[in-house]
Amino acid sequence: MMKRSVIDILDLTLEEIEGLLDTAQDIIANPDKYARACARKKLATLFFEPSTRTRLSFEAAMYELGGSVLSVTDAASSSAAKGESVADTAKTVSCYADIIAMRHPKEGAALVAAHSAAIPVINAGDGGHCHPTQTMADLLTIRREKGAFSDLTIGLCGDLKFGRTVHSLINAMARYPGNRFVLISPEELKLPSYVKKDVLAKNGIPYTQTTSLEKAMPELDVLYMTRVQRERFFNEEDYLRLKDSYILDMQKLRTAKPDLCVMHPLPRVNEIAVEVDDDPRACYFKQVLNGKYMRMALILKLLEVEV
Ligand code: NCD
Repeated sequence: MMKRSVIDILDLTLEEIEGLLDTAQDIIANPDKYARACARKKLATLFFEPSTRTRLSFEAAMYELGGSVLSVTDAASSSAAKGESVADTAKTVSCYADIIAMRHPKEGAALVAAHSAAIPVINAGDGGHCHPTQTMADLLTIRREKGAFSDLTIGLCGDLKFGRTVHSLINAMARYPGNRFVLISPEELKLPSYVKKDVLAKNGIPYTQTTSLEKAMPELDVLYMTRVQRERFFNEEDYLRLKDSYILDMQKLRTAKPDLCVMHPLPRVNEIAVEVDDDPRACYFKQVLNGKYMRMALILKLLEVEV
C-alpha cells in the first residue's frame, strides 16, 4: 500500500476535497454506518505545541470511527526533550500506530516526519506555515453556510503574518472561481509576500489590503477573525501593542450583510466579543464540530477504509 500524507491543503485535489466534504456530510447523516470503520486501527497524536480543539478533535474522530488513540501531548514529556529528531520519532511511532497527526512549532516538521514515517502523516499545524485540517473544517463550514465556494468576498482579519490557518485557507479558496480577498491587519502583521505573490498575484486573484475592519465590513460574505499569535513574536512588547488591534462586537456588525458568515479557528482571546456568539452569523463553534467530521473523513481516506 502506498502511504499518503497530507501536509498542505494543496496535497488534495479539488475532487478529493469534494469527496471528503461528501463523506463528512454522510457521516453527519449516518454516524452508525461509520462506528466500526477503523476498528483495530490506531491514531498517534504527536503534539509538540499547545492545542485543545485540534488534538481532541482528531482523537474524538478516531474514537467515533471505532479506532483507538496513542498520544504525546507535550514535547517535555517525550523523547524530543532528550534531543530525538522528528524523523526518528516518526519511524518509532510507525511501529505502534497506523496513522499520525502531528503538530510542531517548526515549519516543515510534518513534512520531515512524512518522509521518515512508514504510515500516513497529517500536518496538524507546523509553526506559522500551514494547517490543512483546520482549512477542511473551514471548507465544510463555508459549504454548509454559504452553499458554494465561488464568488465570495472573504475578509481575513488579524494576524495574517503568523496565522497558519489564514495561509491554508487562502490556498484553498484561491482554487475556486470568482473569489476576492480583503486582507485586514496592522502594518506589522500583513500577509507574507510569498503568499501574496505565489498564490494571489500568480493566479490573478483580486485582493485589497486595509487596516480598517469597519471599512471592509459591508462588502464581506465571510469574515475570518484570527488571534494575534503571541508564541511567534520575538518581543512581548510588540505582542502587547498589537494584540487588541481588532475586536469584533455587535456595534461593528451593524453594517455587515445579514448573511455574513463570521468564522474564527479558535482559540479566541479578545478578537470577538462574547455578545456576538448569540448572533446567527456567528459560525465559529460550528467550525469546531465540522472539524471533527472532516478529520473522520480524512482518516478514512488515508487509511483507505471503504465503508
Ligand atoms: C489555530 C492554530 O493552531 O493555528 N488553532 C486551531 O488549530 N484551531 C489558531 C490559533 O492558534 O490561533
